[in-house]
Amino acid sequence: MPTTRITVQNNGSLRVEGDFEIADAEGRVFGLAGRTRVTLCRCGQSKDKPFCDSAHKTCGFDSVVIARDLPPPAPKQAPPVASPPVAPPTA
Ligand code: FES
Repeated sequence: MPTTRITVQNNGSLRVEGDFEIADAEGRVFGLAGRTRVTLCRCGQSKDKPFCDSAHKTCGFDSVVIARDLPPPAPKQAPPVASPPVAPPTA
């Protein structure tokens, strides 16, 4: 059973609860002061990104989603095969 749950809230944030950490693009981890539940902005209007500050309630954010199964992931492409070096033409 997963130890982390992310709930997509209707017309609102992503609620994250359980055992998790949140890092920035450089890998620096946010200090969550022991929180086991946070909400992340999904509307793009929070002044405290990535966290929700309830701006979704006044910006008209409208998004209701229903859980569904995703298709299988696309197969990864193999890296291009290096071509052998071309010998210079001989005279
Ligand atoms: S989802 Fe709450 S401020 Fe964006």
